[in-house]
Amino acid sequence: MSNFFIDLPKIELHAHLNASLSEDTVKALISQTENFGIPQDETFIGKESTRTFKNSFEMFKLTQRLTSTYEAVKFATKAVIGEFAADGVCYLELRSTPRSNKNTGLTKKLYVDAVLEAIQEFSEEHLDLIEVRYLLSIDRRLGVVEAEDTLNLAVEYQALPDSRVLGIDFSGDATVGDARDYIHIFEKAKDSGLKLAIHMAEVRGLDEESLALLSLPPNRIGHGTFLHENEKCKELILKNKIPLETCLTSNVKCETVPSTSRKHHHLYKWNDMGHPVIVCTDGKGAFDTTLSQEYQIAASECGMSRNETFEFSRAAIDHVFAADDVKSMLQTKWNQWRNLNLHYFTE
Ligand code: IMP
Ligand code: ZN
Repeated sequence: MSNFFIDLPKIELHAHLNASLSEDTVKALISQTENFGIPQDETFIGKESTRTFKNSFEMFKLTQRLTSTYEAVKFATKAVIGEFAADGVCYLELRSTPRSNKNTGLTKKLYVDAVLEAIQEFSEEHLDLIEVRYLLSIDRRLGVVEAEDTLNLAVEYQALPDSRVLGIDFSGDATVGDARDYIHIFEKAKDSGLKLAIHMAEVRGLDEESLALLSLPPNRIGHGTFLHENEKCKELILKNKIPLETCLTSNVKCETVPSTSRKHHHLYKWNDMGHPVIVCTDGKGAFDTTLSQEYQIAASECGMSRNETFEFSRAAIDHVFAADDVKSMLQTKWNQWRNLNLHYFTE
């Protein structure tokens, strides 16, 4: 891959922790934990392979078993941050579902502590390399009571001084449950100042729940694979300028989109309308990709020049959940990088 895409400063806004574990991290966790019997080649979807949408959730369960202690969650988080930084990511919003485990004594609160401690330690050890924030995930398979519990945790942590908890992610198997049951939770989250990143329309036939979710409105949409097919949804998205987090390889590997090409993927449909789309990985480990690879695919399909690709990655700054001082810092970083790398734009 061209160094340009790796060197290019990038923003990752849609990365699930336990879908982001690299092969090395999975191996290290297998050797550190007592979760033996986890076949390593079942924790990712290799080159040229796909799984059905439903089946990919079985894969996440395996990696989640590997992060069932405070130490393992912390180790995995630090490893994932380091790998994103090595791929040129300057700002990362990591999302993960806080989980408890009776056998190890892990609680949901300890899970959040482990993620935050990893972020803190990494930032102390690698000053100014990468800014990391955390979105607490609500898994739609786990029901409303569990979701309320996660919301309360998010509210509690967000209120702490200099908190890195910025919002809520709504994810999990889109074919399970009804997102409308969770609307009151999202309203409470918004009232508390938490931002909302909501997975929507990953499969067809979810128009009614999508319309209800869009009426909130969320701050960002995860995937939104079939939203352009519904005029009312499209209207609400355009009117409220809700950015889409798009994950090319993930959608193909989960068999919800036939290919990453212009012909098939919704990223290009929204981009052609001048609507904000942000290139993301979803799970660089599970889907065997990197953010630089995703940028390369998008840039090549759109026929973007290096300058256009640079501005495309810069445009994501507007959609981070962090405050304006962080956005200004990121703008400065982009300007400095360009000045130091002019050769990329003249060769
Ligand atoms: P974790 O929240 O860090 O444990 O990451 C794994 C979880 O992310 C899975 O159990 C799902 O809930 C969620 N996830 C990962 N990829 C997708 C996706 O494509 N759609 C919906 N949920 C997803
Ligand atoms: Zn996702």
